[in-house]
Amino acid sequence: MSDTSRPRAVTTPVPPTPAAGYRPLVEATLPMLRDWLPRRRWFAGKGHPISAITPLAVTALPGPTGLARGTGTLLHLLLRVEQRQPGGGAPVVDVYQLLLGAHPDGLPGLHGAAVPQDAVIGRITSGPHDGLVTYDAAYDPALTRRLLALLTSPQRLGPLRFSTLGGRLPAAAPGRVSTAEQSNTSIIYDGGSPAEAAILKLFRRVSPGLNPDLELSLALGRAGSSRIPAPLAWFEAELPDSPQEAPATLGVLTHFLREAEDGWELALRQIQLLDSDPTRVGNFAAESFLLGRATADVHLALARSMPVTVLRRAEVEAMAETMALRLDAACLAVPALGRHRDALRRIFRDLAFAARGGLRLRAQRVHGDLHLGQVLRSTRGWVLLDFEGEPAKTLEERRLPQPAVRDVAGILRSFDYAAAHARLADPAVAAAWAARNREAFCAGYAATGAEDPTLDPVLLRAFETDKAIYEVVYEARHRPDWVAIPLAACARLATTPATPTPTEA
Ligand SMILES: Nc1ncnc2c1ncn2[C@@H]1O[C@H](COP(=O)(O)OP(=O)(O)O)[C@@H](O)[C@H]1O
Ligand SMILES: [Mg+2]
Repeated sequence: MSDTSRPRAVTTPVPPTPAAGYRPLVEATLPMLRDWLPRRRWFAGKGHPISAITPLAVTALPGPTGLARGTGTLLHLLLRVEQRQPGGGAPVVDVYQLLLGAHPDGLPGLHGAAVPQDAVIGRITSGPHDGLVTYDAAYDPALTRRLLALLTSPQRLGPLRFSTLGGRLPAAAPGRVSTAEQSNTSIIYDGGSPAEAAILKLFRRVSPGLNPDLELSLALGRAGSSRIPAPLAWFEAELPDSPQEAPATLGVLTHFLREAEDGWELALRQIQLLDSDPTRVGNFAAESFLLGRATADVHLALARSMPVTVLRRAEVEAMAETMALRLDAACLAVPALGRHRDALRRIFRDLAFAARGGLRLRAQRVHGDLHLGQVLRSTRGWVLLDFEGEPAKTLEERRLPQPAVRDVAGILRSFDYAAAHARLADPAVAAAWAARNREAFCAGYAATGAEDPTLDPVLLRAFETDKAIYEVVYEARHRPDWVAIPLAACARLATTPATPTPTEA
């Protein structure tokens, strides 16, 4: 067992940094945040006015500086943000994490590094901090270095708790924000050798309780799995509003795989080659086979190290019913889906029939939001990232054991997405590419000894349909240009003949 498998206890409490002195700075920043926050990609409640922002916790992260001219201040903020609902219902409350930087000299080039204009919250124009510029300090390498320093040994700082697993951490490397499209913010510390490179994922919207991304990374790390980047350290906070809950995970530091390539990009490049040579529909199949293996390895490791249950008949029926209800809700949200509603409902009914006919399903912890954008091809093979689960679900829902086929369906849908997104001259070639990868992935999955996902087509089809319906709603809301992709998949699922099932009793 490696060093990284044994967490060290948090043993060295550091007296809380007196953050009270920073109250005027925070108070002067809050009004500016009302405009700035809703424009962040990671801000969840877009479109509704913010009715209140309350700092739940303010922690000064120590550095060699104070508020003197020419130096910078770094505050860690947990902000309770309340938004009024249009119909006048109960306001929606979320907690966000923000690293607040303050500097007297403005932008650009704070601390010698270019902080993007977009990260600037605003200039304070009155009071004791008149003239200070406040900004999202995730973008300030001089300040995020302080966060890295806190992660190198177990310690407490006010409400913040830092834990480390050992392993090699980058020594005082400057951080840069990852440019990958993401719903959180990741800071890459990559100054020295590849072994020392690390990436810190800062969760922006914070919920009380253990984040599954940390929970599953730790479990897989303990199991010695090489199918994830090694976890190195993390930090969390006790949210003052919910003392009975487990601390909220705020950030996870893992080994940064410098040479790794994103699965989505890699797949897209291969599909695009088909326009010049349509015969090479198998050009990604060997990778898909290996990805199937990697996914099954993760599932097997999770099944060995975390609870596994068998869903009873009533539970499978309830699952099918939940899928049907999600379909109904999706048809209301996206009327174009309505014409397939009856046919899609039959897919879920087939699953309920199968349960009545004796189908028993194993449920275990899974990835929960697996697609080609959540896997990296590294020098040591495929690794899986981002075990947070589907962002729209609550933390409790995301931590429930589920059939592993949910993840398989996620990747199969992703092949379809990549094929459609590439807009090949001949759509039949794209479809053949997706079919070929689908086969290869399932074969690789089964080659590990894990259950072959194609042996139960009713189950697989139900999960693929459920995922495609989720995608329709997601795309309609966030990327309307893409909604045609899952809509076409729903049309296909609705019209391909269903596998023969027992007739209704
Ligand atoms: N350990 C890592 N090594 C290399 N790149 C990484 C690593 N972790 C994340 N990334 C990159 O950052 C992106 C976003 O990471 P992810 O954990 O999925 O964050 P989010 O929850 O915000 O989607 C990934 O798609 C990948 O490109
Ligand atoms: Mg992700």
